[in-house]
Amino acid sequence: MNQHSLLKPKISTRLNHRVHIDSRWRPLGVTEQFLTNADTYHARYYKNDYWKYLVGRALDLAGIDRSSPCRILDIGSGSGNTVFATAELMPNSSIFANDISPQLLQILVGIQDHIPELEGRIEAYCFDLHKDFFADNIFDLVIGGAILHHMLDPEAALKNAARWLRPGGKILLIEPLEVGGHMMAAIYLKLIEVTELELGAQHKLVLFFKAMCQDYEARFGVPRVKPFTKNLDDKWLFHTSYLRDMAEKIGLVLEFVAPTITDSGNLFSNAVRGNLDVAGLGDISAPDSMWNMLEVFDRGITPDLKEFFAPEGIICLSKP
Ligand SMILES: C[S@@+](CC[C@H](N)C(=O)[O-])C[C@H]1O[C@@H](n2cnc3c(N)ncnc32)[C@H](O)[C@@H]1O
Repeated sequence: MNQHSLLKPKISTRLNHRVHIDSRWRPLGVTEQFLTNADTYHARYYKNDYWKYLVGRALDLAGIDRSSPCRILDIGSGSGNTVFATAELMPNSSIFANDISPQLLQILVGIQDHIPELEGRIEAYCFDLHKDFFADNIFDLVIGGAILHHMLDPEAALKNAARWLRPGGKILLIEPLEVGGHMMAAIYLKLIEVTELELGAQHKLVLFFKAMCQDYEARFGVPRVKPFTKNLDDKWLFHTSYLRDMAEKIGLVLEFVAPTITDSGNLFSNAVRGNLDVAGLGDISAPDSMWNMLEVFDRGITPDLKEFFAPEGIICLSKP
């Protein structure tokens, strides 16, 4: 099959430094974070080992044979976290990387250029996932790391991915979960209470916790669209019943939703620490009362319940 017959007949692309760009490309529903600020985004979020763990766990939970010569579509690839992890974990696969950001895909092909073993195994396609772009039934597996919650219309985007997947194929997604979001919002509210007393209402840490609460609140209630939803980068949190309904509507089966983590010991402390690091506040000196409160949550909630409260999950869907 040549590259052209892999696209829907009405689609045309132009090539820019090895990235195939949809001739009608428009950056709808994404902010500058993923476009002109792509370098900063890449520097902040490119973490190969972490994504190798996540993709490996997803493949194993879904029972995917790592040695199979699959044709894989990676949706919302960004600068390549899941793409490079998958290429390493599935050495006989070929991967189609997709993103709406030409800048992030340029970083991705730039990284590929420095890994000679990957020559010819990855093709990058810049287009909006809301568009029916590829021919039907051509992929064996679809992988998406932190992508569905960025979609203006998650159902429309997933419907496209389902169309492009062959019958018997699977879709693996790693996404934030709504139940875990409620738990984290409750924890952040408690941390505001604790830190405000010691540090005052205007302290960086307190303001950060308030921003986290607002961020969660803005995303609760999928698929309810709010006036500001289209302006958010992170638009949604998902839960099992929404995912099951959506899967049924578009002819998929929801196989499972599993927590991303296996060791839930310090789940809540680690989640807060991770978010502080990403926000550049990792070095800030936080009061002991804050860490003690997190320990109360971590000790008091049983491992079983922590699975239920996991902030992020691996979602597996199959096409009958
Ligand atoms: C959180 S990043 C995840 C990137 C990558 N999967 C990773 O794990 O590092 C979300 C990605 O979705 C892309 N994106 C947002 N809206 C999109 C759309 N409508 N179609 C395709 N990609 C989109 C963004 O440009 C961004 O690269």
